[in-house]
Amino acid sequence: MDILSTAFGSIRLVRSSSALHNTKAANNLRAWDAADELLLAYLADNELPKNTGRLLIINDNFGALSCSLSQYNPCSWSDSSVSLAAAKYNYAANDLGNSPANPLETLASTSDFVGNADLVLIKIPKTLALLEHQLMSLRKNTTEKTIIIGAGMVKYLEKSYLQLFEKIIGGTSVSLAKKKARLIFSTVDQTKQPAPSPYPIKVAIDEFDLSTINYANVFSREKLDIGSRFFIERMKSLPAASSIIDLGCGNGILGIVAKRLYPTAKITFIDESYMAIASAKASLEHYLGGIITPEHRCDFVVSNSLDQANGEPVELVLCNPPFHQNNTIGDEIASKMFIQSKRILINGGRIRIVGNRHLNYHIALKRLFGNCRTIASNKKFVILEAINHC
Ligand SMILES: C[S@@+](CC[C@H](N)C(=O)[O-])C[C@H]1O[C@@H](n2cnc3c(N)ncnc32)[C@H](O)[C@@H]1O
Repeated sequence: MDILSTAFGSIRLVRSSSALHNTKAANNLRAWDAADELLLAYLADNELPKNTGRLLIINDNFGALSCSLSQYNPCSWSDSSVSLAAAKYNYAANDLGNSPANPLETLASTSDFVGNADLVLIKIPKTLALLEHQLMSLRKNTTEKTIIIGAGMVKYLEKSYLQLFEKIIGGTSVSLAKKKARLIFSTVDQTKQPAPSPYPIKVAIDEFDLSTINYANVFSREKLDIGSRFFIERMKSLPAASSIIDLGCGNGILGIVAKRLYPTAKITFIDESYMAIASAKASLEHYLGGIITPEHRCDFVVSNSLDQANGEPVELVLCNPPFHQNNTIGDEIASKMFIQSKRILINGGRIRIVGNRHLNYHIALKRLFGNCRTIASNKKFVILEAINHC
């Protein structure tokens, strides 16, 4: 936990609302970056958002912007449920908003912002496709008076990002860099009629005779990940299971292959990204050739690891763990997923994962489960399985 002090006041910020995630390592990382500080300093110097009207904040990581600007009743729009939960937590923990009963207004990336925004603050995401989709979606919420300011770390601000602002919004300029951060100023050009967002897109995976429907921010949006491919190629060796969780499901490819192997199994698709869950749903519907009904026994849960899952025990967890959360790299999330999987697996149930060899997941699994078997390995990846003995 740390204190962010700006012209808008001092606030305490944590990176996650989840107790298990609030480890020492996670808390040693700050919940804001120099781009947040630069943006807040610019807003204070220019008396924004005072008298500006509706404030929309996009991709605020842990609430640094929405909490600092709480007096202007912002709406925080993000694809990360973990980010929105952290922002809400920080908002309430700092007693922000007009009253305790007035929580931060949040909006999932898959929902539309209704009406016009007068000031839009965008933290530049790592994924160009997400920015493209967000700018295209944003156009219908802007007038020629809408002020749009982006903020990002120089290392993520390639020329192509600025070109997107130019192409979709209008005239764009950048500030000088400060502490390796920059601001982007874009003026809405109403004469531009940008094309609608191309997302979601359909991606054929010919070797497995499947297609996925991928939203802008989903993992491996353009083609099947090589780790996932390696994992799927070995799924035939899985013992039958009647209840399965696809943990960190992305577009749901692992769960869909499991459904094909075991058509009567109950499959729960879990991811913290709204676009991942939307992709998994759309991909499964594509596989089934129609809408999902209760008879299909498939559930979709937006959840930070298993925090929001219903806790029903399962026989099998499939997982290609994330190695970063937003812009932060580490094995914190993978270890949280392993710990929570152990709690939810039945006696004799198993977790099967794929990961880069260098991540040494076998150490964590062995420590936790008391056993860990290598199912397959190649130069880059390893597939591991651990059995739960309660
Ligand atoms: C390496 S990708 C795997 C996606 C998919 N299973 C595949 O194999 O293509 C990891 C996934 O974990 C998700 N993720 C990241 N942090 C998470 C968290 N805290 N809780 C749940 N899912 C998370 C990411 O959104 C991403 O979809």
